Amino acid sequence: MTKNSATPIQTLLSQEPVNQTHTIRGWIRSVRNSKKFSFLVVNDGSCQGSVQVIADATLVNYEAIAAMRIGFCVEIEGLLVVSGGRQGGVELQAGKVDILGEAPEDYPLQKKATSLEFLREIAHLRPRTNTFGAIFRVRNRLNYATHQFFVDRGFVQLHSPIVTGADAEGAGEMFQVTTLDLKNPPKTDKGEVDFTRDYFGHSSNLTVSGQLNAEAYALALGKVYTFGPTFRAENSNTPRHLAEFWMVEPEVAFADLEDIAQLATDYLKYLIQSALDHCREDLLFLQSLYKDDLLETLEHVASSDFKKISYTEAIEILQKADKKFEFAPDWGKDLQTEHERYLTETHFQLPVIVTDYPKDIKAFYMKQNPDKKTVGAMDILVPGVGEIMGGSQREESLEKLTVRMEEMGMNLEELSWYLDLRKYGSCTHAGFGLGFERAVMYVTGMANIRDVIAFPRTPNNCSF
Ligand code: 4AD
Ligand code: MG
Repeated sequence: MTKNSATPIQTLLSQEPVNQTHTIRGWIRSVRNSKKFSFLVVNDGSCQGSVQVIADATLVNYEAIAAMRIGFCVEIEGLLVVSGGRQGGVELQAGKVDILGEAPEDYPLQKKATSLEFLREIAHLRPRTNTFGAIFRVRNRLNYATHQFFVDRGFVQLHSPIVTGADAEGAGEMFQVTTLDLKNPPKTDKGEVDFTRDYFGHSSNLTVSGQLNAEAYALALGKVYTFGPTFRAENSNTPRHLAEFWMVEPEVAFADLEDIAQLATDYLKYLIQSALDHCREDLLFLQSLYKDDLLETLEHVASSDFKKISYTEAIEILQKADKKFEFAPDWGKDLQTEHERYLTETHFQLPVIVTDYPKDIKAFYMKQNPDKKTVGAMDILVPGVGEIMGGSQREESLEKLTVRMEEMGMNLEELSWYLDLRKYGSCTHAGFGLGFERAVMYVTGMANIRDVIAFPRTPNNCSF
């Protein structure tokens, strides 16, 4: 231990009190004064629990201690003792209380309950609440579990680029990246903005997905995954969409649609199990406030088979449903959120894998099925969230892919490198993308995606 070390409260709370002195550092959650003592409740973010500290009136700076309020930052050295309180456990008998940072009375996080909407306006302080501590510890566990899952299975992580010259994924509107002077951009003879004078010599954007780059590496290293930020400038102001979100994208050579659906199922269950094994206290806390049946649902899902149906079967189920949908389910149209939720929440009450979508509503690179109408796509839908993962087998035939891209009016020149992957040593391959925040929503039971990312970016909102 260095001179500078403090005991995390998580460690402290599990110690046997055997006459040991500990130093803790954290933030005051509450102060209660009696004649001879102050009771300080301190949290340091290492776990849901806080520790109670008894500060005796004989301490030299007792006046300052007793005048502390919620939000102060403190360092406390004390003796760990059996708690005198009704709840048992341990508490700290302070020998020394150093006030590291004061918090005036206008500290926005007071004891009284605050709404999630209000907390979004103070996104820099909300991590100091029990709710956000819990969410972000769970998020961290899911992040770690992702790397464990893929590395254990022989995957290589690929750091795919954030800035891209291609506008071709077709996954949504892109954010343009430029160093041109927007007030006075260079113009071509035709009077259009001359992007050959831009930083990269052509226009560029923030990536919507690392998939195309991942394919190049999968067709060399076999199994790869990317885990990085992705950007979509679509104007979707919903509880499930962010303009900047993190995506996990495995890509596997020699895998087909069935293989990748199995991998996606195993991965999702692994994430859930990992949170159940390591974050039970935080999940119980979130359950008590936001979702009554959180643990029961997660345990059920971790041990169930997911339902697998084709898009065509999904449309049939929806057309036979008692429910009146705002948009009538119709073969050839994309599934609406209301349709996805009906399938997973009402009809099956389990995660549902929907496969083989009409080719016209899916991306150009998906494997063309022999029926010439559908492609080897797969989406996984889960209750409360809707689409959590989307993936497909990729079209590996140079000819079929080229024809499809021409049909869709795409720029083949720009993606010649991607076509090369089919020209040189092509093979069956497949992959999927998991929206990481949607996974965090699902596991924490939070209803709004803005509450599971530290500083959300959404239309008209890029503060902090
Ligand atoms: O379905 P999407 O668009 O698929 C792809 O981007 C493929 N390239 C993935 C692949 O095959 N490698 O996005 C994948 C997932 C969705 O299922 C959803 O969970 C999430 O990313 N997602 C979003 N999450 C938050 N905000 C948004 N605006 C999102 N758009 C997609
Ligand atoms: Mg999708």
